[in-house]
Amino acid sequence: MDLKDQIDKKNLPQHIAVIMDGNGRWAQKKGNQRIFGHKNGVKAVRDTVEGAAELGINFLTLYAFSTENWNRPKQEVDALMSLLITSINSETDTLIKNNIRLLTIGNIDGLPKNVSAKLKVLINKTANNNGLSLILALNYSARWEIVNAVKSIVSEHKQNPVDVNNIDNKFFEKYLNTKDIPDPDLLVRTSGEYRISNFLIWQMAYSELYFTEVLWPDFRRNDLYEAIVDYQKRERRFGKISEQIKK
Ligand code: IPE
Ligand code: IPE
Ligand code: MG
Repeated sequence: MDLKDQIDKKNLPQHIAVIMDGNGRWAQKKGNQRIFGHKNGVKAVRDTVEGAAELGINFLTLYAFSTENWNRPKQEVDALMSLLITSINSETDTLIKNNIRLLTIGNIDGLPKNVSAKLKVLINKTANNNGLSLILALNYSARWEIVNAVKSIVSEHKQNPVDVNNIDNKFFEKYLNTKDIPDPDLLVRTSGEYRISNFLIWQMAYSELYFTEVLWPDFRRNDLYEAIVDYQKRERRFGKISEQIKK
């Protein structure tokens, strides 16, 4: 039976988050510059997005550029920014054809103007699509997001201070970039690195974690299916005991 047929359609993760890692190593293994890996990573993005949309996944978040990635050599950062522009241009039709809605998380206004402007156009163009929501994490870091949430709460309540008794998880989440997006059920990280790298720290409190050795440019929808099959074998207890879950 092929992998796709092993997936239980009634138990799909509603939201899958992916740390797309290993582009540089993929290129270097082939004797190429790191940017060659990033370019080939776009093919993996396309196949994964199409695969997720076709399966009926509701939310897919891709970590594309972290706040810390600004610290890479300028040449690589510049190449990544131009690649973003060319990818937005080349993938627009795929998004529209597949009824995909584009969203972003992260400090989008901190990206070069030509990148943020293009993103905003594509977000508007796809705003009424009701298939997969594709969320690109760009200039994103979870600690930035949390600190930013605190800043927003304080500035919004300057005139009428918030009653501390009203601050709970639900209240706080409204100030995160992921407001209205359910928490990821499944996190996938490629390239054999076992860390979170400042991604969705708040939201991943109860996510199932899946790590694969596959380097991102080699990742295809079949690898996504493999992660989902693995996810479906797990028992999510959320602090309870097994017997309570099975009832
Ligand atoms: C992930 O691949 C892409 C980005 C972080 C932009 P890397 O560029 O981190 O590749 P490795 O981890 O160095 O191989
Ligand atoms: C995480 O990958 C960020 C993205 C995939 C965009 P990194 O390659 O930047 O993470 P570290 O530095 O290995 O933790
Ligand atoms: Mg990396």
